[in-house]
Amino acid sequence: EVTPKIAPSMLSSDFANLASEAQRMVDFGADWLHMDIMDGYGITPEIAITSKFNGHFVPNLTIGAPVIESLRKHTEAYLDCHLMVTNPLDYVEPLAKAGASGFTFHVEASKNNWKELIQRIKSHGMKPGVALKPGTPIEEVYPLVEAENPVEMVLVMTVEPGFGGQKFMPQMMDKVRILRKKYPSLDIEVDGGLGPSTIDVAATAGANCIVAGSSVFGAPEPAQVISLLRNSVEK
Ligand code: DX5
Ligand code: ZN
Repeated sequence: EVTPKIAPSMLSSDFANLASEAQRMVDFGADWLHMDIMDGYGITPEIAITSKFNGHFVPNLTIGAPVIESLRKHTEAYLDCHLMVTNPLDYVEPLAKAGASGFTFHVEASKNNWKELIQRIKSHGMKPGVALKPGTPIEEVYPLVEAENPVEMVLVMTVEPGFGGQKFMPQMMDKVRILRKKYPSLDIEVDGGLGPSTIDVAATAGANCIVAGSSVFGAPEPAQVISLLRNSVEK
């Protein structure tokens, strides 16, 4: 009963031409546009490794509410926002005003306030989701899915958050299988390293929302990759 949602990650797009890149993906058959919002503490993976954690969630720095607001003026597409930030609560109102559709925060960044977060995301008309990093046990999201006021999507990271173009971690499929068995109608999103060579294992495990950055934007025919991803989820 879950439907496939193919979500090209705009992190791999040409940010200087974001509106036309978004339109291109919609024309190619994208269901959602995945927007990676990060609060960076370094500039490159090399710097990130040597720089000391200073309160930010990920090493990269990407876009925020002002860019979502600009893009919203050019597209009606569902903007699937993935918040890789330390204080997601601070972003709820700005992102809602900017026109975000989905608001997925990290469980690691919401230990003490996830109930308030979900409530505020919903009251602002967005779809709440929770994401978890590769090292975080799947059990940590159960309370959020089973809450009286629950999240409506779980995003299972299949790379360490921060950068596009990394290698898919197949070990994460155990999390997807467990979730799908427990929650047959839950939206389960996978993010990181998805493409023609990894989609089947993710789809078989039970993922239905597929984020794909470099595999879509790097393809000579992105539309073919998008339809291949969709077919794999549908079968
Ligand atoms: C990584 C981001 C992903 C990234 C995926 O932190 O959350 O959305 O854009 O890119 P690919 O598909 O290239 O791994
Ligand atoms: Zn993402």
